[in-house]
Amino acid sequence: MKAVRKIYDEEVLYINELILTKGCIYGVIGPSGAGKSTLLRIINMLTDQSSGEILYNGEPAPKNGLGKLTLQRNMALVFQKTLLFKDTVWNNIAYGLKARGFNKKEIEIRVNSLLDQIGMTELASRRAETLSGGEAQRVAIARAVAFEPEILLLDEPTANLDPGNIELIEEMIIKMARDKAITVIMVTHNVFQAKRIADQVIFINQGKIVEMGPTEKIFSKPDNESTRLFVEGKMVY
Ligand SMILES: Nc1ncnc2c1ncn2[C@@H]1O[C@H](COP(=O)(O)OP(=O)(O)O)[C@@H](O)[C@H]1O
Ligand SMILES: [Mg+2]
Repeated sequence: MKAVRKIYDEEVLYINELILTKGCIYGVIGPSGAGKSTLLRIINMLTDQSSGEILYNGEPAPKNGLGKLTLQRNMALVFQKTLLFKDTVWNNIAYGLKARGFNKKEIEIRVNSLLDQIGMTELASRRAETLSGGEAQRVAIARAVAFEPEILLLDEPTANLDPGNIELIEEMIIKMARDKAITVIMVTHNVFQAKRIADQVIFINQGKIVEMGPTEKIFSKPDNESTRLFVEGKMVY
């Protein structure tokens, strides 16, 4: 991203430069209203930047048409509260694969393997509406990664979940990212979660990247004083 700006009534995000590397897990942290979700929405092209340039694999992102759709189909976005389809767990996970024209055999292999990974093989034929919050979010992530997107965007995916499910989901994310070299960009309200799963941490405040660096460095000796206050839980906002 180069000089990417997003203006609603006023400027809510300005990214001077951001380079994300394939296969890396990024943790995006920052106070409420900092612009974290806006950043994800721009990367996913759900919303256009007001100005500036975004390149994917070195190529400028097409603003519309098939080019845009192709890029979007290489990314998956999971929100805090995901709406599953009113269908079975199995069909929810298979959905994106069917839409992308995978053959029946391949769909079966992938869905069964994902069900195993999320510990829900027994619940394959359950209706999604009857799942607990944690189970639903596990299905949402399985559905998102089923087609092996290049980029997985997560917006506070474990907010309001119990510790057991949080741990399971964090393990899933790390394993899936490592196995398939998926680039993960995860917004989290919880700095410790970023510490647990991210290779690189991006600290955003008031629409700007204050600091970005290896997780270890951000937590032990950040360059910026406000980064230190934020990761130590001392920033008042
Ligand atoms: N669709 C919108 N219209 C107007 N303002 C918005 C819209 N979406 C987000 N904002 C504003 O942009 C700022 C950043 O929001 P957001 O990216 O959701 O922050 P975060 O995810 O870090 O909490 C906030 O001040 C928010 O009110
Ligand atoms: Mg947000």
